[in-house]
Amino acid sequence: MKAWTEFVTAAREAAGQAGRTLRQGMEEGKEISYKGAVDLVTNFDRRAQDIIVGRLSSSYPGHGFLAEEGLSLAPDSEFRWVIDPLDGTTNFAHRFPVFTVSIGLEFRGRLVVGVVYDPMRDEMFQGAAGEGAYLNGKKIRVSAVSDLNRSLLATGFPYDIRDSRVNNVVHFNHFLMRAQAVRRCGSAAMDLCHLACGRFDGFWELKLKPWDMAAGAVIIQEAGGHLSDFEGGEFSLLGQETLASNGLIHEAMIEVLRLGKRDVPAGREEK
Ligand code: IPD
Ligand code: CA
Ligand code: CA
Repeated sequence: MKAWTEFVTAAREAAGQAGRTLRQGMEEGKEISYKGAVDLVTNFDRRAQDIIVGRLSSSYPGHGFLAEEGLSLAPDSEFRWVIDPLDGTTNFAHRFPVFTVSIGLEFRGRLVVGVVYDPMRDEMFQGAAGEGAYLNGKKIRVSAVSDLNRSLLATGFPYDIRDSRVNNVVHFNHFLMRAQAVRRCGSAAMDLCHLACGRFDGFWELKLKPWDMAAGAVIIQEAGGHLSDFEGGEFSLLGQETLASNGLIHEAMIEVLRLGKRDVPAGREEK
């Protein structure tokens, strides 16, 4: 048995169960509450989280957990699960069928397993350190597009878009003029997986949270892609900048991001 197989299997089961609940729940009445002006949460975010954490903690009671809806458990364990039970909550609340369940696993602080499930397309993405990346059991790889002009890019916007000038609008404008097209689908975990299987060629976003990226980062790395900050520095789950690509257009994307940083330097938060 390969090193991470049992954890991949557990994460797939948990993501599948939570995803099916979300798929059924999408058409039902939801309870919506607001964390900020445009940042919402539904009762299904919490229900999906309970399903995932219930499943994983019954198999691994000693493991650590970091999950978006208020769960941070750090026992003395080498393992920590990093979970976004519903990535794309705004879409879900509007019955726009683009959302995912995202489950990553760290071992001694290193990302080793990622599972992202898209319940509306029944697409299960998975990756494990040294073991490759797969979509519904078939090996996946990033695209071979090497020209930014021919690339399809994805991005998203942080919830403080109205309050902070470091809100991605400038970068979005620059990329619109330089890529073939830019998409904003509303689930960062899904964007990362679409990059891993070659549907997108590049992705950038500001102020993502660890649970948005943990699973997708493993899947991209295992699919031959590259992750960094906006200057090409080391990627971090705690970083404010996420740049991911097929590797071939990475430098070209850094050049474009430099233009945006010149217009709105990071750290300048005045309104
Ligand atoms: C959001 C989605 C979205 C991204 C936001 C995230 P949520 O996660 O990933 O694509 O642009 O920055 O916060 O709130 O739907 O879990
Ligand atoms: Ca999210
Ligand atoms: Ca979420």
